[in-house]
Amino acid sequence: MNSRRTFLKQVYGATLALGTAPALRSWAIGSGQSDSIMIPDENGMIVRSARFLDLETPVEYFDRWITPVPHFFVRNHMHEPSELSAEGWRLSVGGEVEKPLTLTLATVGKLRSNSVVNTLECAGNGRSLHRPQVPGIQWGKGAVGTAKFSGPRLRDVLQQAGVKPSGKHVMFRGLDEVPGKVPPFIRSIPIEKALDSYTLIATHMNDAPLTKHHGFPARALVPGWIGAASCKWLTEIKVLDSEFVGNFMSPGYRFPNQPVKPGDSVKPEDTHVVTGMNVKSVIAGPMDGSTLKAGKLTVHGMAWAGEVDIVKVEVSTDGGSSWNAAALGREQSRYAWRQWSYSWNAKQGDHVIQSRATDSQGRVQPAEAVWNPSGYLYNAIDEVKIHVT
Ligand code: MTE
Repeated sequence: MNSRRTFLKQVYGATLALGTAPALRSWAIGSGQSDSIMIPDENGMIVRSARFLDLETPVEYFDRWITPVPHFFVRNHMHEPSELSAEGWRLSVGGEVEKPLTLTLATVGKLRSNSVVNTLECAGNGRSLHRPQVPGIQWGKGAVGTAKFSGPRLRDVLQQAGVKPSGKHVMFRGLDEVPGKVPPFIRSIPIEKALDSYTLIATHMNDAPLTKHHGFPARALVPGWIGAASCKWLTEIKVLDSEFVGNFMSPGYRFPNQPVKPGDSVKPEDTHVVTGMNVKSVIAGPMDGSTLKAGKLTVHGMAWAGEVDIVKVEVSTDGGSSWNAAALGREQSRYAWRQWSYSWNAKQGDHVIQSRATDSQGRVQPAEAVWNPSGYLYNAIDEVKIHVT
């Protein structure tokens, strides 16, 4: 047992003492994550796929409201564009519009900029925790992060182009390099969400230009919705008279209308497109499997609910027999997660610590997530096991 646990315990102990973010280096592999690769890079991210880069944030990094860009998860369905230049980039706006446009980065930069602090979560976050397991990238708990995204409102650009009454959906195309016969990553969102004042063409993340991994030079930012709605390396916006038809709208990113049993087949007409995110909390500390000294201990983490607010987070230190209200952090914004913490006097023994979030719509994090064939929207009550000496 003198391995990752001991190492993490030491790092975490030091972290608690310093009150700063863990400066973890190369660690990643925990139980159930054996297909992950440990990368010896200074960002300490978990590599879920190296072919098309998919990086997961270790939950221990969720100790601050804004996730630093180097620790922000990355989800790519295909190769990132190999050539991107600020000067050469163009964004076309067409389809059901009066006046098609072609924008340069300089013209986008001259439009009035808005900022949204948004929690971005991959629909498949937590997929590895569904039982029975489902195929797909085996995300643990860290395909989520919160950043301040800035750029012009999509609405302002659409209004410049003049959306025709026939315009009902807005399609985004990125500059991904599509290998072989793989269908391109193209999706659409309904016109109402596209015209919402919080939906952006983001050029900046945490006050710096977007990095390549996160969609340089511009991406769609569709707050409160699953990450797949926020197309990176945006090069085309097309207003359509109906929802885009393509692999990443169907069968991709759809959820059964009724609960299904593993093995049952689901007809496409009995499914709907996944849009907003679920109510959810995760425990960032103490770490699962850690051994700690008896005494005062802070259980802490994050909670979010997509388009609605978190109103309550409860913590159980006895495996779910009793629940206590956690304190919610002061920092908040409409589409952003809330920090939470609960102070606990830990006694010697083995303990199961759980967290459960409730949102302003009355949705409560369930004991079991709704199983579905693609493993989307996992949101069961979070749990860590610790040993106190
Ligand atoms: N945009 C393009 N062009 N290509 C992609 O593969 N992945 C989507 C979305 N936008 C993707 C994309 C998915 S599934 C997610 S969860 C988010 O980007 C992840 O954003 P991030 O990599 O900046 O964290």
